[in-house]
Amino acid sequence: MLGVQGSYTSEPLRPLLLRIAIAIALLSTQANSQLQNDFHSSKCPGVEATVRNVVSAVLQSNPGLGAGLLRMHFHDCFVNGCDGSVLIDSTPNNPSEKEAGANKGTLRGFEIIDTAKAQLEARCPGMVSCADILAFAARDSVFLLKGPFWQILSGRRDSNISRVSDVNLPGPSFNFQQLTQSFAAKGLSQDEMITLSGAHTIGQSLCSFFINRLYSFNSTTAQDPSLDPVYAAKLKTLCSQNNPDPNAVVPLDPISPNDFDNSYFVNVLQGRALFTSDQALATDTAAIATVQGNSQNPSPWIVKFPQAMIKMSEIGVLTGQQGEIRKNCRVINSS
Ligand code: HEM
Ligand SMILES: *[C@@H]1O[C@H](CO)[C@@H](O)[C@H](O)[C@H]1NC(C)=O
Ligand SMILES: *[C@@H]1O[C@H](CO)[C@@H](O)[C@H](O)[C@H]1NC(C)=O
Repeated sequence: MLGVQGSYTSEPLRPLLLRIAIAIALLSTQANSQLQNDFHSSKCPGVEATVRNVVSAVLQSNPGLGAGLLRMHFHDCFVNGCDGSVLIDSTPNNPSEKEAGANKGTLRGFEIIDTAKAQLEARCPGMVSCADILAFAARDSVFLLKGPFWQILSGRRDSNISRVSDVNLPGPSFNFQQLTQSFAAKGLSQDEMITLSGAHTIGQSLCSFFINRLYSFNSTTAQDPSLDPVYAAKLKTLCSQNNPDPNAVVPLDPISPNDFDNSYFVNVLQGRALFTSDQALATDTAAIATVQGNSQNPSPWIVKFPQAMIKMSEIGVLTGQQGEIRKNCRVINSS
C-alpha cells in the first residue's frame, strides 16, 4: 500500500467497510450520560442525514469547506464548550468570538450550518441545536474527505453567550509544552493533542500564521532551520516578504490537501509542517515516536482520531434544560 516515493509517503486509508466497522466499535466506549445516541430520532428522524446531505452537496464543489467545518467545531468546543457559541454574529454591543484573531477572516463554512439549520427548522422547529449541527457537520466532513466515520452522541444545546474575550485557543507559534497545557486545560491528553493535530492534513492557512518562519525567525536566523529548505523556498514563492497578499493561502498538507490521510505526520518528520506548533511535535522524544508510527502506518491513528474527536465533541456541553435551541445559529433567541 505504500506510495511510489517509498516509506515516507502517506498511505491511503482502508476501505469503506472497515472505516464504518471502527465507528460501530467506538460507540460503546462513549460515556457522557447527558448526551444520547441518536437523540433526535423519536421526534425528528433523519436529522443526521439532513446535515450529511447538505455538507456532501457543498463539498462536492468545494472540498476545502470540509476543513473549515472541522476547524470551526474545534474552535467551538475549546471556547466555553461545544455550545454553538462560535456561530453567533457580533452585535454593536457584543463583539462575539468571531472577532478573535484565531477566527476573524479565516473561519469558513458558516453558510453550510445556516443551510442545514434552515432545513431542520422547516421540518422540526426548535428541536436541533446549532451545536449538534456543527458537531455532525465536522464529523461528516472528515468522512466525506476519505477519512474515518464515527458515531457521536447528540442533544447538545446552544449557549446565548459569545464573547471575543473568552477566546483562548492554542496559537500557531506555540511550543510543545504550551500545546500540551492548552489541551490539558480542556481535559485532553498529550497523546490526544498529537492525534487531533493530524487534522492539519486538510485545509489551508493565511501566510501571516507562519511567515515569521520564512523571513524573520529570530534576531540571528532569518529562516527557521527546522523547515525543509526546498519546502521553505516553495512557501516563499507563495508568501512574499515585501508587499504580501493578505489573502494568499497555502495548503496545510502539500501532498494531498483535500484527503483526510496520515500525510500530516509525514510532513512533520520531513520539516514540511506549516506551523511552529506542528513542527513542535518533532521536538519531544515521545511525540516523535508517535508521529513516526502514524506516518508509517495510519491504522492506529485512524482509530484514535475518532476517539479523540468524540471526547472533544463532548467538552462542556449544555444539555437538558440548559441553554436554548437557537432558531438562527447567528443570533440568540432572546434578542
Ligand atoms: C494544536 C493546536 C492548533 C493550532 C495552533 C492550530 C492552528 C491553526 C491555524 C493557524 C490554521 C490556519 C487558519 C487559516 O489561516 O485559515 C489552522 C487551520 C486548520 N486547523 Fe488547526 N490548529 C490546531 C489544532 C487543530 C485541531 C485540534 C483541529 C481539528 C481537530 C484543527 C483543524 C484545522 C483545520 C481543518 C484547518 C484548515 C481550515 C481551513 O482550511 O479553513 N486544528 N489551524
Ligand atoms: C441567557 O440565558 C440566561 C439563562 O437562560 C439568562 O439569564 C440571560 O439573561 C440570557 N442572556 C442573554 C444575553 O439573553
Ligand atoms: C535563532 O535560532 C537558531 C536556530 O534555532 C538558534 O540556534 C539561535 O540560538 C537562535 N538565536 C537567538 C538569538 O535566539
